[in-house]
Amino acid sequence: MKIVCVGGGPAGLYFAILMKRADPAHDVLVLERNRPDDTFGFGVVFSDATIAQVESADEETYRAITDHFVHWDDIDVHYGGQVTRSTGHGFAGMSRQTLLTVLQERAAALGVTVRYENEVTDLGAFADADLILGADGVNSTVRALLEDDFGPTFDRRPNRFVWMGTTKPFPAFTFYFRENEHGLWRVHAYQYAPGASTFIVECTEDTWRSAGMEDATEEETAAYCEALFIEELEGHALVRNRSVWRSFPTVRCARWSAGNMVLIGDAAHTAHFSVGSGTRMAMMDAIALRDALLRGWDTRSTPHRKGSHEAPGAAMADRVALALAAYEAERRPQVESLQRAAQASLEWFEATERYMDLDSVQFTFTLLTRSLRITHADLKVRDPAFTARVDAWVAERAQEQSGVSVPCDPLPPPMFTPFRLRDLVVPNRVVVSPMCQYCAVDGTVGDWHVQHLGSRAVGGAGMVYAEMTDVSPEARISVGCAGLYKPEHVGAWKRVVDFVHGFSEAKIAVQLGHAGRKAATRRMWEGDVEPLPEKEAWEIVSASPIPWFADRSQTPREMSRADMDAVVADHVRATEYALEAGFDLLEIHMAHGYLLASFISPLTNERTDEHGGCLENRMRFPLEVFDACRAVWPAEKPMSVRVSAVDWAPGGMRPEDAVEVARLLAAHGCDAVDVSAGQTVPFQKPVYGRLFQTPFADRIRHEVDIATMAVGNVSSWMDVNTIIAAGRADLCLLARAHLFDPYWTRHAAAMQGWALPWPPQYRSVERYTPRFEFHFGGE
Ligand SMILES: Cc1cc2nc3c(=O)[nH]c(=O)nc-3n(C[C@H](O)[C@H](O)[C@H](O)COP(=O)(O)OP(=O)(O)OC[C@H]3O[C@@H](n4cnc5c(N)ncnc54)[C@H](O)[C@@H]3O)c2cc1C
Ligand SMILES: Cc1cc2nc3c(=O)[nH]c(=O)nc-3n(C[C@H](O)[C@H](O)[C@H](O)COP(=O)(O)O)c2cc1C
Repeated sequence: MKIVCVGGGPAGLYFAILMKRADPAHDVLVLERNRPDDTFGFGVVFSDATIAQVESADEETYRAITDHFVHWDDIDVHYGGQVTRSTGHGFAGMSRQTLLTVLQERAAALGVTVRYENEVTDLGAFADADLILGADGVNSTVRALLEDDFGPTFDRRPNRFVWMGTTKPFPAFTFYFRENEHGLWRVHAYQYAPGASTFIVECTEDTWRSAGMEDATEEETAAYCEALFIEELEGHALVRNRSVWRSFPTVRCARWSAGNMVLIGDAAHTAHFSVGSGTRMAMMDAIALRDALLRGWDTRSTPHRKGSHEAPGAAMADRVALALAAYEAERRPQVESLQRAAQASLEWFEATERYMDLDSVQFTFTLLTRSLRITHADLKVRDPAFTARVDAWVAERAQEQSGVSVPCDPLPPPMFTPFRLRDLVVPNRVVVSPMCQYCAVDGTVGDWHVQHLGSRAVGGAGMVYAEMTDVSPEARISVGCAGLYKPEHVGAWKRVVDFVHGFSEAKIAVQLGHAGRKAATRRMWEGDVEPLPEKEAWEIVSASPIPWFADRSQTPREMSRADMDAVVADHVRATEYALEAGFDLLEIHMAHGYLLASFISPLTNERTDEHGGCLENRMRFPLEVFDACRAVWPAEKPMSVRVSAVDWAPGGMRPEDAVEVARLLAAHGCDAVDVSAGQTVPFQKPVYGRLFQTPFADRIRHEVDIATMAVGNVSSWMDVNTIIAAGRADLCLLARAHLFDPYWTRHAAAMQGWALPWPPQYRSVERYTPRFEFHFGGE
């Protein structure tokens, strides 16, 4: 097989080594524009897990690499005049130049031809190659030459960073956070060779400009940073090597291959340096691509001529194309997952200013778990002592905040600490998210609702939310929706509330809503937001006359002032009924494209009166409803509001708008924001994933100083502990997890060895040892 690798970085060289090792008859050529000893940057980092894969792929490279490793287990966080150390992280660093030398030598020993000072500008000369590898880094020429085929996108991030070195040896991976008159500076530093360390300085664009770094030369940059970090550097100088300020580009490609051409490493995808994964991803790509090519060989070589390296059977080009497709199918999900983790991590560093008033223990915890992949449980395995400090800190704060005594021996996992909202104390942080059941009769709930909410309350959740409960018959999504608009609804709900209060420790909340332009639709399982047949439907209203589905939904009537007055009165009546029924917390639904949300989002509000235009105007009616309910809901009882933090659609709500919404809500006496997202328009493009909405809750909580509830793919108790301990939210709402397992919280307690008292009727369980294995941890 004739292989041409464009680029002799870690990706190109390692792939060349692996292919040549697999079969010395492969003709492998690497073209590198630099000289062998030219390099930018200083060190690279490997985790223990990565290096194990390198070992099994090629032991000699592994040994040569590990000979040069500087190992460390600790992460030191210098913040607020304190150093917090966490251990057990298992990383190793080495010089990038040494890594390249090791790979170059191994490639030469195996017979790979490497031509240095050979810049590739077009691919015409490689027409006879069976495989062309674009391993030419973040500014890939191969990718640019075939831009239409690969479909790259570039997300240039706002922070600025400069990669320098220093002779100071760091005993641990070290983060510094230092503020001066220009802003906050972050440093990521680690040793990669004796007496040689990487020292990356990062800051926001504002800080960078304000410090005059925009026009600074390399010398001026180094001088500024040396003066800034004079104490930290302890007399060591900063070393420059093309140390210019950059902004990180996250590269993604719609496709990684085209015919016999394939991108690997930074050419195909990048991940922010704060997850230390660029070199690792490049080398893992090389292994996966090698495996896909070899698999193609094994399974398709019929008949195989001994000693021949010609692939018989299907044509070589087809075979290569199939292998490249298999490579992408296997590798893309792993890369995208890592890119999502890297995205969360880089966003943390873009917003570090937000966390600067945290206690050092919580600051370190949020830093260590910033990618949303490392959980409280992972840290507990790595560093039980640090995690115990975190748990003690959380327990102490919870006791202070709730006024309820929290045990200190044993310490509760963070999810089992109480949380207070006005006079309501929620006994733990797990909440059953509101879920429509679509089986009420003219708004009246029944036996199903008693068992639905009752079993989940007995199942250990700290609070259960009753489903979206509509304030009038016209406000209902479907004919099966629950209501609080008739006196008989009070008794029906009271039965549910009394069950929850009588047989569990759980609190119970109600979510008042009006479906707006999504009213008069079918039950979810009959077609989501599908309109009812005309003769069964009723007239619907919204902020503006925009139907949900342009081709088949009813066009809502634009609300008049009289309509608004009626809706306010309906909410007030429902609030009074909710109080009579005994609910502990009242939530107003301002999310998911329903009536109040339709005022808030610019995508659904085209009004030209005082309710349209700027956000303040769009919030006017939702706040009027909130104020009217707050006025009749007792001062000692809390109120929350569910919002859609983003619309996932161009021109719609953005996270920064949600912060403003929360600010307005807080000013009107809202106690907690329940932070959901989307469902505003049918053409939304959500970015789903684990904890995909949690960063919005985190941002609101820190920027507005209001309690938040995180919801959306919070699926493991590890996630709940992590969210609470990091202060990303105060309560975690889980919906589908609770449909799957009404005893979700009890099972989480059992798995953590936490004794959650059983109701007396079930107390025999305390003498029962389950013999089944059931894993609902994290990934
Ligand atoms: C500040 C910073 C810190 C980082 N820290 C780490 C870290 O700690 N750990 C880690 O794993 N990764 C780190 N990385 C990322 C890492 O450097 C890259 O992800 C990794 O080197 C990717 O390997 P690659 O082979 O795909 O690309 P590269 O290493 O960029 O190699 C591409 C090669 O192609 C050559 N080339 C480019 N164009 C042509 C052409 N037209 N013709 C011929 N040759 C060409 C280049 O000269 C280069 O040698 C960091 C990156 C930055 C910016
Ligand atoms: C069956 C079902 C019904 C739902 N009904 C409501 C509702 O009444 N009000 C609401 O705000 N969200 C509702 N949701 C959304 C959930 O409360 C929650 O935000 C969403 O499912 C994401 O959480 P999860 O990933 O834990 O399932 C519903 C979700 C499901 C699955």
